[in-house]
Amino acid sequence: MYGSDKVNDEVASERTAFRRTEKKYKLYYDQDSKSSKKKKRPKQVDLSEVLDFKTISESYDENGDLPPGIVAFQCGFDRPVFRLQNCPGFSFIPGALGIEEQCRWIKEGLTSFPQPPNRTNHNAMYGPIHDLFIAAKERKVLVEDENTHTSLDSGSNACVSNEHSYKWKFCEEHVVSSRGKTCKSISASALLRKLRWSTLGLQFDWSKRNYNASLPHNKIPDALCQLAKRLAAPAMPMGEEFHPEAAIVNYFGLGDMLGGHLDDMEADWSKPIVSMSLGCKAIFLLGGKSREDPPLAMFLRSGDVVLMAGEARECFHGVPRIFTDEENAEITPLELHLSQENDFLKYIRTSRININIRQVF
Ligand code: OGA
Ligand code: MN
Repeated sequence: MYGSDKVNDEVASERTAFRRTEKKYKLYYDQDSKSSKKKKRPKQVDLSEVLDFKTISESYDENGDLPPGIVAFQCGFDRPVFRLQNCPGFSFIPGALGIEEQCRWIKEGLTSFPQPPNRTNHNAMYGPIHDLFIAAKERKVLVEDENTHTSLDSGSNACVSNEHSYKWKFCEEHVVSSRGKTCKSISASALLRKLRWSTLGLQFDWSKRNYNASLPHNKIPDALCQLAKRLAAPAMPMGEEFHPEAAIVNYFGLGDMLGGHLDDMEADWSKPIVSMSLGCKAIFLLGGKSREDPPLAMFLRSGDVVLMAGEARECFHGVPRIFTDEENAEITPLELHLSQENDFLKYIRTSRININIRQVF
């Protein structure tokens, strides 16, 4: 019966300590009994137990104070690196990326990173999509061409075809409306909102959950490689250099979350995962080696970097929540810096981008 299934589902979803904490921070809306037209209001969450490395860092700068269980290191950055006594291999570098750098990677994250041969979550459905961000800006519509090389390609040339001549092509909005409802279509801006991941370098195959070296791929862009090497240094074994081979870029909108998981497909866990946060503030959960270990919640802001190496590589982690409201998103510096670049600003105001860089072999 539906009722008892629902109860069972709820029991199952709260089975582990990790899931319970995930549920605590996840976005829920207040039930609005009267009118569905009324604006939905996010349910209030108690954030008093969320570790805040920004305030920790500020009071450490001011008077050297640190909460119990947290240690600070100077690792050759102009910022201290914080570690947790009971999670060896985990490092948190608040504000590791300056505002210029944040803007640069937000832009790359939306323009060059999702470009083929890099794959995105849209590949499975639409094949490779070129220039999604530009298409969204130009209000293009992705249309399924049932008779490839016929109607849409001929005549007015209003339709911009993909290099790979796939069934799906970007068209001008008016071309689609004049064709009525005879073909499947989706606006580029809806696709941009639904972009959930892209992969750089060695491509990660989500269906098999492993790296597939036979998929065509480009090297990780050199500037990102250099940045990752610099950021990884505090977590590297003595005298070794980090070799970035793959990166997963996650895109979060309001209500999106990344469930508790381990990144266990890389051969050498002594090498860190370098994880950069951009855009809206989020909550990160760092659990233990079992989903039964209650996770520690912490805020991640634009410019923060997390390193996970060694034992921390074996710890469940995830992102149950991002904040897009003005007070909690904490993106004022980005607002100021991107004020002339409306399309990027519009996106990042309600989104978070996470770039996590890995050495696979
Ligand atoms: C991941 C991951 C964390 C984040 O993609 O594996 O853990 O901060 N991302 O989004
Ligand atoms: Mn991860």
